[in-house]
Amino acid sequence: MCGIIGSVGILNHYKNVINGLKRLEYRGYDSSGVSYLVNHDIKMIKVPLMVENLIKQVRPFISENAIGHTRWATHGKISKENTHPFISFHGLFSLVHNGTIDNYLNLKEELIENGYQLEGETDSEVVVNYLEYLYLENFDLLKSLNLLDQKLKGSYSLVVIFRENSNLYFLKNQTSLLICKEKNGYLISSDLYAFNKSKINYFELQDHQYGFINQNECCVYLNNQVQNVLFSQITIDIEPLDQINCYLEKEIFECPKVLEYEINHYINNNQVIIDEEIIDKLKKASKITIIGCGTSYHAGLTFKRFSLHPNIEVKLASEFIYEKNIFDNNEVFIVLSQSGETLDIIRSLDKVNDYFTIGITNNKESRIARMVKKHLDIMVKKEISVASTKAYFGEVVLLYLLNAKINNSSLNDIQELPKNLNFVLNQSSKIKDIAKNVSKYSSLYFLGKGIDYDACKECSLKLKEITYIHSEAIPLGELKHGPLALINEKFPVIIIHSLPEFNKVIDLAKNEIKSRKGNIFQFELFKNNQLDFLLQVLFGDLLSLYVGRILNVNIDKPKNLAKSVTVE
Ligand code: AGP
Repeated sequence: MCGIIGSVGILNHYKNVINGLKRLEYRGYDSSGVSYLVNHDIKMIKVPLMVENLIKQVRPFISENAIGHTRWATHGKISKENTHPFISFHGLFSLVHNGTIDNYLNLKEELIENGYQLEGETDSEVVVNYLEYLYLENFDLLKSLNLLDQKLKGSYSLVVIFRENSNLYFLKNQTSLLICKEKNGYLISSDLYAFNKSKINYFELQDHQYGFINQNECCVYLNNQVQNVLFSQITIDIEPLDQINCYLEKEIFECPKVLEYEINHYINNNQVIIDEEIIDKLKKASKITIIGCGTSYHAGLTFKRFSLHPNIEVKLASEFIYEKNIFDNNEVFIVLSQSGETLDIIRSLDKVNDYFTIGITNNKESRIARMVKKHLDIMVKKEISVASTKAYFGEVVLLYLLNAKINNSSLNDIQELPKNLNFVLNQSSKIKDIAKNVSKYSSLYFLGKGIDYDACKECSLKLKEITYIHSEAIPLGELKHGPLALINEKFPVIIIHSLPEFNKVIDLAKNEIKSRKGNIFQFELFKNNQLDFLLQVLFGDLLSLYVGRILNVNIDKPKNLAKSVTVE
C-alpha cells in the first residue's frame, strides 16, 4: 500500500524523489521519508507525517542517488522508528519497501540471535537488516538479493542504497515495481505516475527479479541469470502538481464531462459497442458473479437491479476469497476496481482463473486489467482523492451499458445522465444548506428503498470516510424492525428517494420518524429517469464534501486510509 521511488545517475534526485512522493501519496500518507548517498555517507530524513511536512524538513540536496517512501502503516504504529527508509544495523544499506512480509518475526529472531538490534516494529526494518546479514556472509550483493528473495515470504518491492557505490539495488515480488529510463540515469517506483511526466520509457519488473541501476546501466537478474531488458513507451494522463486544492471537489464536478466521454466511447449510432465475446458469454452464463470492494462493490450492486438474468450474485471480494464454492464452466465473473490494484480482487481472480473473467477498471495498465480475460475501461481519468466518486459513476455506467446491450434496451436514460448530473451540481448552494445542519450530528441513517438503498450504502460510506460522522444505510422497510429505536432529536435521517412508485411508503416512514422527533433531510429531485438514483449519490458526494469543509478535515486524505488497498 505504500509508495516507493528511487532516482540514480546525473539527475536532480531531490526533485525526482519529492515530486514522486507527492504523486505517490494517494497510496498512503501515515509517514514519509527520504534517504540519499553522498560520498559513502547515507543521509536520511523521515517524519511520521504527510509529505508536505517532510518537504519542510528536506533542504534541496545534491547526491549520487536517492530513495523515498510514503507509508500506509501495516506492521507497527505511526512513529518515526517505523517510518521508512531504514538504515541497517552496521550502516551498509538504506531501504524502502512496499508490501508485507509474512515471516518477518522468525527472521527478526534470527537477527537478534546474531547480535542485531532493531528499533521499530516493522517487517521492512527486518528486511534491510537481513540483507545486511546475508551480505556480511558472502560480500556479494547480487547473490545476497537472490538469497533474500528465497528467504522472504510475502509481497515486496525493495529499493536499496548501498554505502559502497552509487547504484540503486532492487528486488520485486507480488507488488509492482517499474524502472523508467532517463537520459542520464534511471528512476524506479511502485507506480508509473510517480515518474511525474506523461511520456515514459519504462520496464516492468517480474516477480523474483532483482538487480541494479546506475547512470548507464539497468541490470536485471532472475536466479543468477541475466535477463533481457526491453523498455516500452507509454503516454499517461498527468496533471501538473500542486495546482489542485481539493481533488474530491474537482473529481465530483468533472463527473458529467468524463461520463459523457465514457458514454460516447461505448455508444455509436445508438448502438452499444462492446466486445461481442463478452456479451455472448454473459447471455449464455449459468450464473454471473460481480465482485468488488467498498465503492466498487456498491456500483456492482446496481447490476443486479438492472439485469434480467435469473442468477446473479454480488460479492464483497474479501468474503468471496474465503467462500467454499463449486463453479460450473458457464459461470462468468465480473470484477470491479477503480485502481485495478486491490489485493482482495486479485486474490478473487486467482480463485476463478479458469473461468471467463471480465475486469472493469479505471486503469488499463493495472494488474487486474492484465489478469482478466477481458478488460473494460471506464475512462474517467485518474482519480486522486481517496474517496471514490467519479469512478463509481463510471462503473455503474458500464454495467448499465452491458445490460442495455444484452437486453437490447433503450439508451435514452443513459444519454441524459450527464445533463441531469449537471443539474445537481448547479444546486450546490441548496446542498450546502443541508450540510450546515448535518454537520451538527455525530450519527445518522440514510434511508432508501430498492436501488435507492444501494445508493444509501454508497452515501453512507462517503460520509464516514470524508467527515468521520457515523452513518448507516437502512432499507426503508426495515426501519420499524429495529433501527427506529435510535431516532430522536439528536439522531436524524437522510432520505434517499428517486423512485416515485415508493412515494406512499416514503411518506409513511417520514411520519414515523417525525413522531419520534427525528429530523429529516432530503434532496428532492425526480427526472423520471431510471438513473435518478445516481443524482442522489451525487447529492451524497457533495453533502460529504461540504460537511467535511465545515468540520475542517483533510478531505482528500482521510485518516487511516489509502487510495489503493494492496494488502489484505
Ligand atoms: C471509496 O471511497 C473507498 N476509498 C474504497 O471503498 C474503495 O472503493 C475500495 O477500496 C475499492 O477500491 P478499488 O475500486 O480501487 O478496487
